[in-house]
This record gives sequence, structure tokens and C-alpha cells, in this order.
Amino acid sequence: MSEKENKNKTIIITGGASGIGQATTALLLERGYRVAIFDLEGDALQATRKQYAGNGDVFFAAVDVTNETLVGDMVADVDDNFGELTGLANCAGIAADKHVFDTSPELFRKILDINVVGTFIVGKEAARRMKGRGGSIVNIASISGLRGSKGRSAYGASKGAIVTLTQVMAVDLAEHGLRVNAVAPGPIDTPMVEAVHTQSDRDLYHRYVPMNRYGKPDEIASVIAFLLDDSQSGYVTGEIIAVDGGYRGAGLINRK
Ligand SMILES: NC(=O)c1ccc[n+]([C@@H]2O[C@H](COP(=O)([O-])OP(=O)(O)OC[C@H]3O[C@@H](n4cnc5c(N)ncnc54)[C@H](O)[C@@H]3O)[C@@H](O)[C@H]2O)c1
Repeated sequence: MSEKENKNKTIIITGGASGIGQATTALLLERGYRVAIFDLEGDALQATRKQYAGNGDVFFAAVDVTNETLVGDMVADVDDNFGELTGLANCAGIAADKHVFDTSPELFRKILDINVVGTFIVGKEAARRMKGRGGSIVNIASISGLRGSKGRSAYGASKGAIVTLTQVMAVDLAEHGLRVNAVAPGPIDTPMVEAVHTQSDRDLYHRYVPMNRYGKPDEIASVIAFLLDDSQSGYVTGEIIAVDGGYRGAGLINRK
């Protein structure tokens, strides 16, 4: 689609103030979309407000994705007053790397609540609005939801749930003209990874990722944009696309 054709398209990006969501915001704006950023109030959202001050193609909402009422109100506000909703990228999420013995039920519940229930709530509200008109939802799973990696009992379980949620929503919503897919990133250099990956994690990923490097947020954003664009991916739904430098497909790796 050309920049001009995307002018009438409005996408909600949760977690749009940091990392993968931030890169997706920048790419979609560059391609002519209107973008509604849903993120927690804080430094990243403040900085993003400043960055796009005066840009009428950006809408800001301080929203916790687990707050069903607020999410419902803000999705309606975007659709009624900013631009008719045509897509959603569910990029909000949190992570932890803790051995199963060190993972409390509180932490487990919190990660499931934000990563899974939050994705479900925003996806459902967006789908209600886009129903019958057409639209695309992109969730963010992870290679940690496809393979068992150390320390990922809560995070990995949440991302495994995203895989199934994506498949089920794709089935339930197909008759309403909506597509639902997920991207499963490998290690991507973002503030989340800076906070969670130790040097030893980084060394391990370099060993196990055939491309021998971390990915960049832009390299996830471009796949999200592909999945949001009906002209590019109009017959793709219920799919989980790993964007991981070859991690998932790898067997023996010849690494010195
Ligand atoms: N970076 C990676 O290596 C990697 C790999 C696989 C999957 N992912 C997933 O990609 C997504 C984005 O991660 P990132 O690396 O860009 O992280 P990030 O920390 O840079 O960005 C996440 C954003 O989500 C927001 N957020 C967190 N909780 C929220 C809530 N309750 N309501 C609204 N917003 C909330 C944060 O404020 C932040 O702006 C996450 O779902 C993450 O699990 C990341």
C-alpha cells in the first residue's frame, strides 16, 4: 500500500512508547498510517509525547492493558474520534528470568495478567470495533513460548498462551473479516532485554542463534507491518512467524 492509501488506516499499538512497539510506531507513521499509542504513564510515554508533539497522526493514551474499562473507553475514543480502527499491534509486555523455585505465584499471575489477559482484552475490544469492516491483529509471542528456555516458567507460559490465543482468535474472528497473527521474536535489543539479559544470557544467545547476533526492533516492526497490511498478508491468519535469526529452526551449530 502507498503512503497515501494508508492515510485512512488507524492502528493501535500497545507498548508503543518503547522497544518493539516504539519501532513499529515509527515505521507505520513513515508509511502514512495514523497510530494510537497505548502505554503506561511514565518516562517512555512522556518522551514519546514530546517526540511527536504537534503530529496529528499520533494519539496518546495512558492505559494499563489489564484495565478492561479503560481499554474499552480508549479503544472507542480512538475509533470514534481519531480514526476508524483498522488494526492492532499488541506489543505491551513484561518479562522475568527466574528459576522455577524463585518464581512466586504473584509474579506468575502478574506476567500472565499483563502478557496474556492484557493482549486478550485489547484484542477483544479492537475486534468488536473492527468486526464486519475488516482488520488485522498482531500479537507478540516469543521463542520462549515455542521452546523451553531456562528461567521462563512464567514468561514462557505467557507466550505459549499467546500462541494458542492467536490461533483461537483467528478462528473465531475469521467470519467477521478479521485476521489474527503473532510474531515470535528471538532476542531483540530493547530496554526489556537490557533489564533482563545478563552477559551470560547474551553469550548463550550468540551461541544458539545461527545468525550470531541479537535482532533490532526495526526487524520485528517490519514483520508486524507486513501482517497488518491486507495487501501484503491478506490470506495469512492464525500464523506464528518466528523472527529469530534462525534460533527455532536450528540443529547443530558450528560455533567456535
Ligand atoms: N525484546 C525481546 O527480546 C523480545 C523477545 C520476544 C518477545 N518480546 C515481546 O515483545 C513485546 C515488546 O517488548 P520490548 O522488548 O519492546 O519491551 P519494552 O520493555 O521495551 O516495551 C514494552 C512496553 O510495554 C509497556 N507495558 C508494560 N506493561 C504494560 C501494561 N500493563 N499496560 C500498557 N503498557 C505496558 C511498557 O511500558 C513498555 O513501553 C513484549 O510482549 C515482549 O515480551 C520481546
